[in-house]
Amino acid sequence: MKSLSTNEIRQYWLDYFADHGHMVVGSSSLVPADDPTLLLINAGMNQFKDTFLGLEKRDYKRATTSQKCMRVSGKHNDLDNVGPSPRHHTFFEMLGNFSFGDYFKQDAITMAWDLLVNKLGLPVERLWFTVYTDDDEAMRLWIETGAAPERVLRFGKKDNWWSMGDTGPCGPCSEIHYYWGDLDKQVADGVNKDDEYLEIWNLVFMQYDAKADGTLVPLPAPSVDTGGGLERFASILQGKDNNYDTDAFVPIMDRIQQLAGQSDAERQANLYRYRAIADHARACTFMIGDGVLPGNEGRSYVLRMILRRAARFGKLIGFDQPFLAQVAEVVIDQMGSHYTDLPAKEAYIL
Ligand code: SER
Repeated sequence: MKSLSTNEIRQYWLDYFADHGHMVVGSSSLVPADDPTLLLINAGMNQFKDTFLGLEKRDYKRATTSQKCMRVSGKHNDLDNVGPSPRHHTFFEMLGNFSFGDYFKQDAITMAWDLLVNKLGLPVERLWFTVYTDDDEAMRLWIETGAAPERVLRFGKKDNWWSMGDTGPCGPCSEIHYYWGDLDKQVADGVNKDDEYLEIWNLVFMQYDAKADGTLVPLPAPSVDTGGGLERFASILQGKDNNYDTDAFVPIMDRIQQLAGQSDAERQANLYRYRAIADHARACTFMIGDGVLPGNEGRSYVLRMILRRAARFGKLIGFDQPFLAQVAEVVIDQMGSHYTDLPAKEAYIL
């Protein structure tokens, strides 16, 4: 298996899909450009919503991105998991490849397998695949591509049907899960249940536009929207059993510890608070960088809530002075090589 830093994984992904005919498109702002159904960007496909719906034409039919996402309000909300969970964040980066009426299930599955197994070297004996209840085609394609039949499982609407919100593009999906526990202890029943099974990549076969009354109107053309968690890939490729032990978070947690003047034992005793502060520092840095300010409504309220949550956890580990700006410096330092607007706005953000 390859060993890569978080910045290297992002680049590796974009390069792989560029080599396979995809346009490398920049992340959109966390603030949706023109979508009243969405408070904050929650998936890589958001910026392509109108392209899937056939309302907007682009001069490419394949795209790849690393998209800034927040899952802290609305349909996809992970806030309460942040801290205790080894894998959930308010802010994270979603790696994606997209087909707008170009390739469909076959190529999406073949490329996913090629990238994960042939290129990154993930061991097939740790991978599990899920498909929507009646998606025989996806099941067949995974098996033809190389998956052992007993490692391809069917799940229902809750797990294998993806929609952006109550309305908009949606369709059956197929997920890839990575098992990181003892090899001989894995069981099919653990998938979508136990923490040792990490969902790393979701392949959505976009086919419908969901209307407010529940009607599913077929999209102009079957399309593909995939999303892989960069921080989760980092945990695997760096041999860690949780995202917070990767190079995306360790320097941030080190800074918190240094500012708090705590010992390693104190850090360990306050682990969930450190994680939440590190997560929230990233979220606040990116939200402010994208022009959100704390306030009483909408996304401004979300920012204020995250900021206050970070401050409260900070207080609980002993801070009696503002500290978040100093933590944000590390975030900007780490991620500024890709998100070059961050260093440019550093003084403002801090
Ligand atoms: N939109 C899907 C998701 O967010 C795949 O990118 O999981």
